[in-house]
Amino acid sequence: MKWKPHLDSIKPYKPGKPIEEVKRELGLERVIKLASNENPMGPSPAAVEAMADAAKHVNRYPDGGCFYLRQALSKKLSVPADNIVFGNGSDEIIVLALHAFVDPENEVVVASPTFLIYHIASMIKGAKVRTVPLKDYKYDLEGMLEVITDRTRVVFIANPDNPTGSYVTRAELESFMDKIPEDVLVFMDEAYYEYASGGDYPETVPLTAREDRSVVVARTFSKAYSLAGLRIGYGIARSDIAGVLNKVREPFNVNSLAQAAALAALEDSAHLAASVALVRDEKKKFYAAFDGLDISYVPSRTNFILVDTERDSAKVYDYLLRRGVIVREMSAWGLKGFIRVNIGLSEENDAFLEVFREALTKVPAN
Ligand SMILES: Cc1ncc(COP(=O)(O)O)c(C=O)c1O
Repeated sequence: MKWKPHLDSIKPYKPGKPIEEVKRELGLERVIKLASNENPMGPSPAAVEAMADAAKHVNRYPDGGCFYLRQALSKKLSVPADNIVFGNGSDEIIVLALHAFVDPENEVVVASPTFLIYHIASMIKGAKVRTVPLKDYKYDLEGMLEVITDRTRVVFIANPDNPTGSYVTRAELESFMDKIPEDVLVFMDEAYYEYASGGDYPETVPLTAREDRSVVVARTFSKAYSLAGLRIGYGIARSDIAGVLNKVREPFNVNSLAQAAALAALEDSAHLAASVALVRDEKKKFYAAFDGLDISYVPSRTNFILVDTERDSAKVYDYLLRRGVIVREMSAWGLKGFIRVNIGLSEENDAFLEVFREALTKVPAN
């Protein structure tokens, strides 16, 4: 039996190590995970309660249309209910867009490095992926426009970006939108929207109403809303685009616990505000510590920071792991010497910074 030959060149996505695995493998009792950009505060108690209630009814299939959540989001975002598509995480919205718009003869434009799923999912489709290097750790939108051809169907823009935490501004995006052809889908991945919004960060939902452009805005309940384990995200698009994305999804792609919890989380604005405030305040502590250590990093509009250890980052990663702190080592992204650390609870961040200081003395600088 032979599978599709183009699948042979795909390297599977390697997620951050789970806490239990590290405890088991290294015999550690306390492990801190700052590797997957999760919200350390735990879910909203209202979401947990809603899930407990929904758990009594899991003998039934979920509502394939996510009616209540759709109504709530439609109201919150001021978009028609039909302009929303739900996914098993916002990851699934990426896959749905490729399903609906991309054939093997088409091209997809992605930055490099950026969130790896765009590249992997496009390769699974058999499409050609055009990569455009970041400039100073930031998306080069002009460079992305330059590689667009008649065969291009989708451009992915992580805003803010993962793993750099940088973002494209309103003015930069406006200039890009002026030049992008109507038949190229602009996929705005805003997984970190709640941490980033404000100032010159662009508000993109209004762009989805444009008839002369094709835009999907993807957001998630995994990050600031603290529901990563449930897998629920959504896309916002003009109703014809949302309609076709809805056509290609599985009928019950979002489970009933996720729907109930997301609705409750959406209504718990105090929990969201506390989550965003924690990141804002603790990030300052990281910056001060890195500045004090003369370690460079990319200023971040997200809940994580990309850090140049100026050392063998695999060794730094390993040292941290053995001391019970999981971060992400970035050489698979082509970022040699870098780690990515996400903001945890205050005491977790203190513990990371203490062990990181030690690591810098143990692993020789380049
Ligand atoms: C830029 C970006 N997009 C999408 C996702 C996927 O999030 P979800 O949990 O909604 O699938 C992530 C998760 O790390 C991300 O960093």
